[in-house]
Amino acid sequence: MKFFIDTANLDQIKEAEELGILDGVTTNPSLMAKEGITGEKNILNHYLNICKIVNGDVSAEVISTNLKQMIKEGEVLANLHPQIVVKIPMIKDGVKALKYFNDVNIKTNCTLIFSAGQALLAAKAGATYVSPFIGRLDDVSNDGLVLIEEIRGIYDNYNFNTQILAASIRHSMHIINCAKIGADVMTGPLSSILGLLKHPLTDIGLAKFLSDYKKGN
Ligand code: G3P
Repeated sequence: MKFFIDTANLDQIKEAEELGILDGVTTNPSLMAKEGITGEKNILNHYLNICKIVNGDVSAEVISTNLKQMIKEGEVLANLHPQIVVKIPMIKDGVKALKYFNDVNIKTNCTLIFSAGQALLAAKAGATYVSPFIGRLDDVSNDGLVLIEEIRGIYDNYNFNTQILAASIRHSMHIINCAKIGADVMTGPLSSILGLLKHPLTDIGLAKFLSDYKKGN
């Protein structure tokens, strides 16, 4: 399972990278705005800064909603750095853009996936990744993990190469459950990744080992 961090915060990306387990980064316009990154030039420069920290795929989202503009914007993003994956929303022109980028060998991440039908369509169009938003489904009393299971089943039935990138992860149990189902990738906040390493019995056990060592020396 690949681990992506879902943030545009450079310090958090560095912290996850230093842990040695980071495979990539996902961003979106809201995450960029949260870091105060605005304006095309600053946004493009920020993507380059992210690519300097992590050696893996970095999703950069288009903000256009028509095919022509999406292609233009996506090509600028893809030409920026070889690690950039063009993030495309699941809308009609988005599906066409996924097909276009697949044909010219540019990696894509189809975002805002909330149903199995949308995931099937994105795979048919040749998306590299699909991003089902499991936390936002949980927020409206739909089980996001059920969607991951449905997509896994469909993709396995037909050997689709599209990777399931479980997004809108809110906590460590989301990661564990996505791993059990077989999501190819998860993207979550740093807290959800760090939560995986915590256990009180580890802390208690380590404290005892260290105090026993001191007694014997
Ligand atoms: O990157 C998209 C997705 O992960 C958004 O997460 O927490 O805003 O629902 P969230």
